[in-house]
Amino acid sequence: MKISFCIALLATTATLLNAAPTEKTQTFPLVSNPKFKPNAKYSVAKARAKYFKHLTSVSSSGEGTVPMTDDGSDLEYYGEVSIGTPPQKLKLDFDTGSSDLWFASTLCSGCSGSQTKYDPTKSSTYKKEGKPWSISYGDGSNAKGVTGLDTVNLGGIDIKGQRIELAESESDQFQKGATDGLLGLGFSSISTVSGTKTPVDNLIEQGLISNPVFGVFLGKASKSGGGEYIFGGINKSKVSGDFTKVPVDNSQGWYQIEVDGGSAGKGGSIDKFSGIVDTGTTLLLLTDAVAKQVGDALQATDNGDGTYSIPCDSATDLTLTIAGADFTIPAADLIYDKSGSSCIAGFGSSGMDFAILGDVFLKNVYTVFAPQVPEVQFAKLA
Ligand SMILES: *[C@@H]1O[C@H](CO)[C@@H](O)[C@H](O)[C@H]1NC(C)=O
Repeated sequence: MKISFCIALLATTATLLNAAPTEKTQTFPLVSNPKFKPNAKYSVAKARAKYFKHLTSVSSSGEGTVPMTDDGSDLEYYGEVSIGTPPQKLKLDFDTGSSDLWFASTLCSGCSGSQTKYDPTKSSTYKKEGKPWSISYGDGSNAKGVTGLDTVNLGGIDIKGQRIELAESESDQFQKGATDGLLGLGFSSISTVSGTKTPVDNLIEQGLISNPVFGVFLGKASKSGGGEYIFGGINKSKVSGDFTKVPVDNSQGWYQIEVDGGSAGKGGSIDKFSGIVDTGTTLLLLTDAVAKQVGDALQATDNGDGTYSIPCDSATDLTLTIAGADFTIPAADLIYDKSGSSCIAGFGSSGMDFAILGDVFLKNVYTVFAPQVPEVQFAKLA
């Protein structure tokens, strides 16, 4: 179900947009974004990510923070994860819509020159395992290789003996991307290598974090970009008001929740729907019927390929009601990108009977993932 919607940045392509592997496939055309340019905020975030170990103290508090880089104007968010001993630092796309931890490795002759490749021969804690793995995402991107075991450091916390997936080959989308691989944060049940425990499960089961949750803040390029995942905790200073607890259906391995409905602007009311909380998807992808309701209310037109065009001066907000609380996506975030003289909407249709609550929604809330309940909690941002 990863539906790639890479309007921005040809280079950053598809990967990320939609991570959960399923048989449903939908591909959107890739168009490069002439407006993209590196900026100071990006550099600061990158530098901070590089030195994050010095910025955070972890084990004493039972939580670990990973700063995120907001890539390609909210196209994807990646963080640095260290693998092995001594640590090899990789940039991974953090994705709650899938559950595999994989990355480019020296076993991959075709992996792009710009990617950092994990070298198992340089890690004293690497253990060979050799189970084959293969993953394909809904956008047609894919990767495969063999498994191994090594220490994975997430925000300063060492997870020993974590199963890792070393790529021996990967599709074009990943070679052109800004990241070296993915960190799947969904439930272990959908890991493509059966019996694998995700890093989050290991953090919890090995008692490495004091609270069995992770808190997610995703920034906006229009503000200061960035973002932050806290494993084992929540950043209260990013939150305003109370958290709303939302039950999760994890029977498909995803954080699937019910949205009670909502409203677009003054008149447009929206039916209830079910959706996956997916940090690895860029847009808000609704069911066809709800996308049509939102499209009508916002005077947006269906392009027939899952995308909508929206008037570039649209000033209508979208409010989703979840577990009785209202969460608003401001009009500015419903205009994702300019394409010629028209604008591409930040919402689209998933083409499936469930929605994907991607970053267009998630960058407007603080989200706590509590896999053991299972539930998510949303709060408005400070
Ligand atoms: C929490 O958020 C505040 C305010 O944005 C920030 O200054 C601080 O570094 C964050 N704390 C952690 C642990 O990331």
